Amino acid sequence: MASQLAIQGGTPVRTKPFPAWPVHGEPEEQAVIRAIRSGKWGKLDGAEVAAFERDFARYQGAEHGIAVVNGTVAIQIALMAAGIQAGDEVIVPPYTFLATATAVVTSNATPVFADIELDTFNIAPQAIEALITPRTRAIIPVHFGGLPADMDAIMAIARRHNLVVIEDAAHAHAAEYKGRRAGSIGHMGTFSFQSSKNLTAGEGGFITTNDPALAEACREIHNCGRRKGHAWYEHFVISVNFRLSEVQGALLNAQLQRLEEQARRRWENGKYLNEQLERIPGIKPQTIIPECTRHAFHLYCFRIDARELGAPRQAFLKALAAEGIPNFGGYPLPLYKQRLFLDRAFGPYDGCRGIDYAKTCCPNSEAICYEQGGWLEHRMLLGTRQDMDDIVAAFRKVYENRDRLGA
Ligand SMILES: Cc1ncc(COP(=O)(O)O)c(C=O)c1O
Repeated sequence: MASQLAIQGGTPVRTKPFPAWPVHGEPEEQAVIRAIRSGKWGKLDGAEVAAFERDFARYQGAEHGIAVVNGTVAIQIALMAAGIQAGDEVIVPPYTFLATATAVVTSNATPVFADIELDTFNIAPQAIEALITPRTRAIIPVHFGGLPADMDAIMAIARRHNLVVIEDAAHAHAAEYKGRRAGSIGHMGTFSFQSSKNLTAGEGGFITTNDPALAEACREIHNCGRRKGHAWYEHFVISVNFRLSEVQGALLNAQLQRLEEQARRRWENGKYLNEQLERIPGIKPQTIIPECTRHAFHLYCFRIDARELGAPRQAFLKALAAEGIPNFGGYPLPLYKQRLFLDRAFGPYDGCRGIDYAKTCCPNSEAICYEQGGWLEHRMLLGTRQDMDDIVAAFRKVYENRDRLGA
C-alpha cells in the first residue's frame, strides 16, 4: 500500500514545505533603515532608486532603465513613449496577465490577440504575421513564465513592418535569449516587482531600453511630463507621477544582490525537472527553445495531455497537491474571454472601437486554459535536488495510480 494516493488516505510523498518567498534578511532590513534614516524618501531627492536604475538596467544588459510604480504602467509608459495613438493596433498574446492587454487599452489603442504555441506557451510568430494590418504599430511578446519568446522571428517581423517591440519581461528577470538578457532585445522591455515576482519590493516596475530617445521619453512620462534641463513646473506631455519611492528602491537594491544566485538555482532545477518529467507519458513540460540560454522559471509550466496520461487534468493536479506538491491549473480563460473584453467595458478609453472580441479564437490558448495547463511556483525551484526529486516522485506516483483518479 506504500503507493496509495494521499488523496485516498495514503502517505503523501512530502509534508515538508517548499522554500518561502520572498527571501529576506539582514541586508533588506539594513537597506530599508538606510533609506529611512537618510530622510530622503522620494526618488527625486535620494540615491537608492537612481542606483537601482543603473544596476538593474546593467544586469539586464540594457543601456537605460527607468523605475516606475508597477509593471502595468511600465507597459503603458513604453507604449506612450513609442507614440502609440488612438486607433493603433498592438499585437499581444491572450495567455498572459491582464496588464499586457489592458495597458494597450489605457493607451487608447486596440489590443489584437495572437495565439501562443502549445509547446512554449509563447506568442507564435506566424500568428503575429497573420494579424498585421495597416494600423498595426507594436508587438508585445511576453516571455511567459520566464522562457524567452522567439525574439529573432519577432524582431524580423517588426523590421519588415516597421513595428515597435516591447518585451513584457514581468516573468523574465535574468532570462537570456542567445546570451542576451530579456528586455535588451526589443525596442523596450518592461518588468514587474510585484510580490510574486522573481525580484520584488512588494510592488514596482521598470522599463529598459538601448535607445536614448525612448529612455528620455519614458523619463518624462514617469515624472509628470517634466523635461531634462527645464524647470520643475514646466510640463511637456500628458502624464502622472509614476515614480518609485526610495524605500522600495533600497529594498530592490538589496534583493538584486540575491538575484543571480537564485536565477542559477531555478535554471538548474528547472532543467532537471524538465528532463525527469518529460519521461512521464502525458506530462509535457514547457519546451526550452535552443535559443534560450537561461529560463527565469518564474513559473514552472507544463501541459497535461489527458488522453495520453489516461486521467483528467484537474484530478491529476488535485492528487498531486495532496502528495505535498502545491500547484495551479494556470489562467482559467484567455484574456479575450474576460467580460471586460466581451463587453468592451473600457470606460473613457475608445481606441478599441469596431472590434468584437467575441470573434477572437486562439485554439492553443484555449486548450491550455481549459484542458491542459499546469504551473508550479518559482519558490519551489529554489529548493534542493532532493526537493526536485520529491516533485518527480509525486508526479510519478500520481501517474502510476492514474486508473484510480476517476473521471
Ligand atoms: C506578464 C505580466 N505582465 C505584466 C504584469 C503587471 O505587473 P504589475 O502587477 O506589477 O502591474 C504582470 C504581473 O503580474 C505579468 O504577469
